Amino acid sequence: MESAVKERSAQGGTKRRGATAEEMSARQKEVSVSEFFVKNRHLLGFDNARKALLTTVKEAVDNSLDACEEAGIMPDIAVIIEDLEPKRPATAKQSRYRVTIVDNGPGIVRKQVENIFGRLLYGSKFHRLKMSRGQQGIGISAAGMNGLITTGRPMLIYTKPNAKQPAHHIELAMNTKTNRAEVTLDKETKDFPPERLRALSAGTKQLSQEGVFLSPEVFATGTSVSIELEGKYQKGRGSVDEFLELTAIANPHARIVFVPPSRVAQEEVDDLLPGTSAAAAEEGKSKDSKSDAPAQTTETGGVTVFPRGVAELPPETKEIQPHPKGIELGILLQMLKDYEASEKGSLYDFLQTRFCRVSANTASKFCSAIGATSRTRAGDIEPQQVEKLFKVFEDEKLAPPPTDCLAPIGVRQLLAGLLKGVKAEFYAASTREAAVYRGRPFQIEAAIAFGGDLPGDQAARVIRFANRVPLLFQQSACSSFKAVEETPWKNYAMQQPRGGLPVGPLVVMIHMASVWVPFTSESKEAIADYDEIRKEMRLALMECGRKLGTYLRKRQKMRREGERRDVFERYIGEIAKALNAITGEDAKRIYDALLEQARRKTAVADQQLDEDGKVVKDDEEDDFGEGVIVVESAIAPIESAAPIAPPVFDAPKPKDGKAAKDAKPAKPEPAAKPAPKGAPAIVTKKDLSSRTETEPKPAPKKKPFTDDDPRLF
Ligand SMILES: Nc1ncnc2c1ncn2[C@@H]1O[C@H](COP(=O)(O)OP(=O)(O)O)[C@@H](O)[C@H]1O
Ligand SMILES: [Mg+2]
Repeated sequence: MESAVKERSAQGGTKRRGATAEEMSARQKEVSVSEFFVKNRHLLGFDNARKALLTTVKEAVDNSLDACEEAGIMPDIAVIIEDLEPKRPATAKQSRYRVTIVDNGPGIVRKQVENIFGRLLYGSKFHRLKMSRGQQGIGISAAGMNGLITTGRPMLIYTKPNAKQPAHHIELAMNTKTNRAEVTLDKETKDFPPERLRALSAGTKQLSQEGVFLSPEVFATGTSVSIELEGKYQKGRGSVDEFLELTAIANPHARIVFVPPSRVAQEEVDDLLPGTSAAAAEEGKSKDSKSDAPAQTTETGGVTVFPRGVAELPPETKEIQPHPKGIELGILLQMLKDYEASEKGSLYDFLQTRFCRVSANTASKFCSAIGATSRTRAGDIEPQQVEKLFKVFEDEKLAPPPTDCLAPIGVRQLLAGLLKGVKAEFYAASTREAAVYRGRPFQIEAAIAFGGDLPGDQAARVIRFANRVPLLFQQSACSSFKAVEETPWKNYAMQQPRGGLPVGPLVVMIHMASVWVPFTSESKEAIADYDEIRKEMRLALMECGRKLGTYLRKRQKMRREGERRDVFERYIGEIAKALNAITGEDAKRIYDALLEQARRKTAVADQQLDEDGKVVKDDEEDDFGEGVIVVESAIAPIESAAPIAPPVFDAPKPKDGKAAKDAKPAKPEPAAKPAPKGAPAIVTKKDLSSRTETEPKPAPKKKPFTDDDPRLF
């Protein structure tokens, strides 16, 4: 060995550069998962100060929503960001913040606290196939670790798993060498939810008094997590505000209260999600603009309340076993090993209990196909047989996996969420049937909002969700974004530059619900581009697009005819007078006859069209299909349509006594009135048909609109 080294040095003529295997071996050691992620925090969404703040909020809010839903509790979540250096100079690039998230979930039993908050890759969701927001078991502990690295401060946890017993108050820091927690404080306390938080500002005090913020009755059990970190609080795209706004849209069953820090980093307060309440708040008109709309986001003393939009929890989801068609060979081998280690049972039992959709019949078919019997032990299967089994899985026709593991948002809730968060005039939503990729069931939903406060000259805004969590980064890498670009928006009366996003006042929402969302990275920002997934997305978008097209074509036609009628009505008064002068015929009668004819000719303005643009009968109910809302008060009036009053005619000269008797005193017909203030925000299609400025039909009788009854049809 020594001689070999000498030889090499001699060959090079200079001192040897390469290390020996022995020397290298001295440096070879295990990398702990936490050491790895300390160096690679960007993989988890902690790339910069701004994103670190967002990711911390996101991980905690995701966990709170997951925990509440799993426990069957309507989620009430408080997100509080305190600026710990409010007096920093204006030039400071970032600041130190304390992020606190309090939920009214089931709490965490004392003995699990260290594992959950002090260990990476520890969680309840990784090993099961069930729809949830978290899946890797790397969320909240990574946020705590990032806080520890940037400020040296431990996590502060309150958790109350039992309503009748005191809460636990724990401070812990992760030892990144061992990936284990080090607890620095551990005591019991009655202070839950922490009193200090209710007294933070005038806004929190007022909301506490109103019972909206951290009320002890609502937070009988729950968890509060505080993390101190170096961050940057700034509004705009990819901000905490946008995240919460979108979370509220996709989770209308949750109430979220947000207490922002006292100072906002001002630069680049750029594009807020147009048409949202956050954007409106920026323009200083948040609180009671459109007070007739349902459950709107409100602001009290700087505190934002995203109210609950619906009164029921999403349906409970079931855990499923993997489907044979989605399994990979290596995984199958591992599953067999695990089964042998735990159960030592037969292959026949293994197939039926560890997979979904394998009946006793199918299991024995599989066994005989690889030359095994129903009694062969799973552990005795040869590697070649496993490979054969894998092929048989592929060839066999099996029912698709069950879908009760999924909880799509649903058309009604999608609309309620969008209505709450985006101020538009037309909303449509659709939920596809469940489909399968790699043996894993998934379901796609899409919704669109059009018009109203949305800017008309920009590319549509795409908002993406996976298992109800908003995805804020890497948009162009996401299969949902590609699906929006591939949808033929031109067919739906929208502009669309070749291969691009549609242009117009449009927000497009896509949601993928799955037991395992194929993210492109650990920070869970974009959905991988599987053909099956993209196709479902496109189909869902097309369903919404068709409804939008129907609405837009109808609106265009109504406007056109309304304008034509306008022109007619402007001149027939003059014509009637002139004819009266020439013929002596009663001017009012001529006017009425001409008016009648004009209205007949432009009757389309009052008509309704079906999905294919054909005229439907007036009394036909199902105009756009299901899942559509039109908000009347948000529709821009027809430009330059000043109401036209009929002219005043002189009393007709009596030709004979009868005519004089028929003649009514000239009384102007009531001119078109603007929509009455306080009219319900939601209209049915019938109201839509009456929306011409020149001739309002009497408004149909409607039941008073209530918050949790968005009028869907
Ligand atoms: N607020 C909470 N309430 C109850 N349980 C929680 C809460 N936060 C986290 N947990 C538990 O801690 C586990 C680990 O959370 P996390 O590190 O975010 O990973 P993941 O969410 O991917 O499982 C979760 O699986 C859940 O069981
Ligand atoms: Mg999580």
